[in-house]
Amino acid sequence: MINIAIVGCGAIGSTLARAIDEGKAGEVELAYLFDVIREKAVKLASSLRKRPKVAENISEILSDEKVNVVVEAATPTAVKEYGERVLLAGKDFMVLSVGAFYDQDFYERILRTLKERNVHVYIPSGAISGIDAVKAAAMEHIDKVELVTRKPPVAFKGNEYVKQKGINVDKIEKPVVLFEGTAREAARLFPKGINVALTLGLAGIGADETKVKVIADPTVKKNIHEVHVEGAFGKLTCITQNYPAPENPETSYLAALSAIRTLRQLTERFKVGT
Ligand SMILES: NC(=O)c1ccc[n+]([C@@H]2O[C@H](COP(=O)([O-])OP(=O)(O)OC[C@H]3O[C@@H](n4cnc5c(N)ncnc54)[C@H](O)[C@@H]3O)[C@@H](O)[C@H]2O)c1
Repeated sequence: MINIAIVGCGAIGSTLARAIDEGKAGEVELAYLFDVIREKAVKLASSLRKRPKVAENISEILSDEKVNVVVEAATPTAVKEYGERVLLAGKDFMVLSVGAFYDQDFYERILRTLKERNVHVYIPSGAISGIDAVKAAAMEHIDKVELVTRKPPVAFKGNEYVKQKGINVDKIEKPVVLFEGTAREAARLFPKGINVALTLGLAGIGADETKVKVIADPTVKKNIHEVHVEGAFGKLTCITQNYPAPENPETSYLAALSAIRTLRQLTERFKVGT
């Protein structure tokens, strides 16, 4: 049995906790919940059949030898704050706020620690499809990886970069390209919404070679990610039209489902897909 601690009890953390509780996430048990807003963890814990402990802080989780995997479902800042400590404590780390890895120094430190401590980082495919094929395609030459992300303008409300560009998202009446550049820059400028850019970059040809276009589109209601890849394998186009998660309209429901499946894969004996 693998013991799990979930850090962040929002949309993804709650969905994952319930899935573990219902036995949908394989042979795993939920040992801890932790949230900077303690009441969120307490409320979630009390709604579950098998009640996990509510941790007071990350150290409580890291000092418990029974915990095998820490799941981050919080923010990119939390990934940076806890990431190395989790791995140094000898625990595997599942990361949802993938955008944190835009910082190359941080990414390289994590890679070194993984090797030193013989532990693992798991990145769920999240809100896009095609990661399986991109990983396989990257075994050979790839000419191009491109992501086009289209979201309703409200999804960009409060984004600093959009504000600095002088764009008022409430006044957008036709599709506006907010950003065109590398996956690394996209993850830096859109820390909340474009985690998938970094996931795609890490799966394929890297964060600097992966091209990203971000569009605020008042004609769409869903978060839409298009992935275009060309290489020695041929060509690939994947379009994912995401419904929002019931508890957080900024998060795609598929991201939470993908986290459940990634956890389940840890104990699956018959594994399908790259
Ligand atoms: N990989 C993907 O495809 C993908 C898709 C959607 C969302 N995400 C990312 O996953 C993360 C979680 O998403 P969500 O929709 O569940 O968010 P959410 O806002 O619903 O929940 C986040 C929770 O984390 C808590 N939190 C914040 N900082 C913390 C810290 N330092 N320590 C402990 N708890 C902390 C918050 O209080 C909140 O309860 C976000 O960073 C989001 O951008 C990734």
